[in-house]
Amino acid sequence: MSPTPQYRGLGDVIVTARPFDEYLAMFDLADADLMTGPVLDCPAGASGFAAGARAIGADVTAVDPEYAIDPDDLLRRARRDTEYGNRYVRDNPTTYSWGFFRDEPDHLARRMAALDAFAADRRAHPERYVIGALPLLPFDDDAFRLVVSSHLLFVYPDHFGYADHLRFAQELARVAGEEVRIFPLVDTTTARWPDLHRLRDDLAGCGVWSEVRRVEYEFIRDGDEMLVLHPG
Ligand SMILES: C[S@@+](CC[C@H](N)C(=O)[O-])C[C@H]1O[C@@H](n2cnc3c(N)ncnc32)[C@H](O)[C@@H]1O
Repeated sequence: MSPTPQYRGLGDVIVTARPFDEYLAMFDLADADLMTGPVLDCPAGASGFAAGARAIGADVTAVDPEYAIDPDDLLRRARRDTEYGNRYVRDNPTTYSWGFFRDEPDHLARRMAALDAFAADRRAHPERYVIGALPLLPFDDDAFRLVVSSHLLFVYPDHFGYADHLRFAQELARVAGEEVRIFPLVDTTTARWPDLHRLRDDLAGCGVWSEVRRVEYEFIRDGDEMLVLHPG
């Protein structure tokens, strides 16, 4: 029998529901940035990003492996995971900084509202919620102008090693014609992912130039930077 893994931080990968305005803040995006070509959210989980972006007229697609399960089961899972995430925030007060969210009840309420927005948008546009997983996405090269990727890479170092991160980043760059934004660069213990320099060097070696950019948003302490990839 294999030993039970001892996770640091949050533990298993959860299905979260971040609202549209949180995405704009995390990725330092203005509405206009979403209007100049197709946008992919990978992994989208139960986030309200696609709903919000579509409401302003953007051409947006969401992808996540969990779209393979029954939609009502996914909503139940996302609700449970959102409550779990909120308890984690409450139980680890030194890990989080308050600003974007007022307090823990505000955090829970806005994430639950995002889940409702996700559910309604997925019901209305099921074809825009695509089953897929890194490192092999079901899209052509350069299918999107912009790809945003939040809270998978760098956040779960107990689940994904260096080689996974490199293959995930290369695949995000493959489907992005112009730009990939990945947020944050820390995990849920506030530790910065240690191999960022190596990753950036390896990406440069295959023609993907990158930069680290500071953003105004911070929720996990020290999580106020994103990695921006510029595919060749
Ligand atoms: C913490 S959620 C982030 C969702 C969304 N970006 C947000 O910020 O609310 C992580 C998501 O990664 C998805 N996931 C897990 N493994 C994946 C993989 N190999 N490729 C793509 N997505 C994956 C999970 O299903 C989950 O929905």
